[in-house]
Parts: sequence; C-alpha cells; structure tokens
Amino acid sequence: MNNQPIGICDSGIGGLTVAKEIINKLPQENIIYLGDTARVPYGVRDRETITKFAKELVNFLINKKVKAIVVACNTISATCLPELQSRSPVPVIGVIKPTVFEVVDNLKSKIIGIIGTRATINSKSYEEEIKKLNNSEIVFSQACPLLVPLAEEGFISHPATKIITKEYLQYFNDKKIDFLILGCTHYPILRNTIQEIIGKSIKIIDPAKPTTKELINILTTNKLLGNNLQPIRHFYFTDITHQTEKTIHIFFEGKFLGEMEKINL
Ligand code: DGL
Repeated sequence: MNNQPIGICDSGIGGLTVAKEIINKLPQENIIYLGDTARVPYGVRDRETITKFAKELVNFLINKKVKAIVVACNTISATCLPELQSRSPVPVIGVIKPTVFEVVDNLKSKIIGIIGTRATINSKSYEEEIKKLNNSEIVFSQACPLLVPLAEEGFISHPATKIITKEYLQYFNDKKIDFLILGCTHYPILRNTIQEIIGKSIKIIDPAKPTTKELINILTTNKLLGNNLQPIRHFYFTDITHQTEKTIHIFFEGKFLGEMEKINL
C-alpha cells in the first residue's frame, strides 16, 4: 500500500474528465490535480513551448511527492511524453496509448475518426500508435481547436458550440466512421453536443476510462495502490476566475470533489 498522492495534469480543466473517472474508480486515493489555466490552450502552440510548459507541470507534481503521474492531456502526450517519462522518478502515463489500445484491441473497429487539438492531430501520434497495433485500421482525423475555449468557457450546449462543432464534424460526413475518439480531454465536457451532431450510431471513445484502467494496472503491478479512508483531493490551477469555478461546478454536477488553490509555477 502507498498513500502518496496520484498526480494528474492538464493545460486547463479538460483533465478533470480523467480525474473524475480516476476518483470514481479509485476513491481511496489522494489526488493532486494541476491545470495550467493561465496558459491554456496548449494545442495551438509549438513543440518547444508545449514541452517547456509540460516539464513545469510534471516538476510541480514530482515536488509534491506523487507516486505516479497521469498526463491527462492529449496535446502533451502527443508532443513530449517520452521526455517527461525519462526525467521522472515515478511512472508517467499518457492518454493516447491506452485509448488506442481500447479501440483497436477491444473493439475491433474498422474505421476510426479522431478529433483533437491542432498539435495532437499534426503530430500523427494516434495514427502511429494505431499502426503499431494494427496496420489495417483506417483513420480519419480532424483538428477542432475552437472546442477547447468553448469547453473552458462552460458553453456546454450553447448554440455557438453547436454551430462550430457541426462545422468541424462535417468532415466525417462521408467517411463512414464506426468510432470517434475524443482526442482531447476537454471534449468530453461537450460530449452530448458532439454525439448529437456526429449521430447516435457512432460510438464515442473518451480517453478517461482506458487511461484509468492503465493507471490501475500500473499501480497494481508496482504495489502502489492506496487505501485512504479519508482521501485528500487538491486541485491546483495557475489561474482561477469566476468562470473557471462555474465551469468546474457544472462539470462536477454541483459537488466539487476537493480543495481548489491558485499557484504560480
Ligand atoms: N486538454 C488538452 C488535450 O487533451 C489540451 C487542450 C489545449 O490546451 O489546447 O489535448
């Protein structure tokens, strides 16, 4: 047993979609979440900047003596995961590999759609991971950069979100996809709108579940599972506005699951 916290980071509030699943599946774990709300979005920035920011997030979590780090951000996972893993004394888990594993191995899919930030889509990380597991998959991907600020703004089923989502998703109209991977942890916040526009018959894949599964595997293998009867969950952000708080409360359906604190990196 190990009651040190699990560290989770993202460029903003998107990683809370992963944190929520981790808290649901591992309710006896202490959690430290770090969202870089002062510098979000990362997905429109270049490799060097994303890597610099990501190293700062991971260093913060390492200094908090976490036992494992979940990079709950596709953009960081796609850009510099191996660099983060090589400098960390504790396991660092990204979201892309576990998500791809879920689609390719468990679901035996044929045609896969992926949406993500520009950095994630341009990196072709999803395609590369898919190819490693199964060469015969057909993949179509589309960057949807404006969905991140809409999610951060809490425009969950706002008419503007519907118009913009429709504009991006029309790319898939003639692609006959079976699955749509939400390759950005902000997008599950807009999941209902995305499902409505892409169509009910297309299965949406949210990285939260497969990433949590991978985390549980790693904690179990390394005998790092915790058993806190009164777990502490601390949520750090580099900027907290009234809007940030409002969006988080809507997302957690009124019950925020821990302390919130503003920090400087
Ligand atoms: N939530 C992040 C992701 O999964 C990044 C959004 C952004 O900062 O652009 O890609």
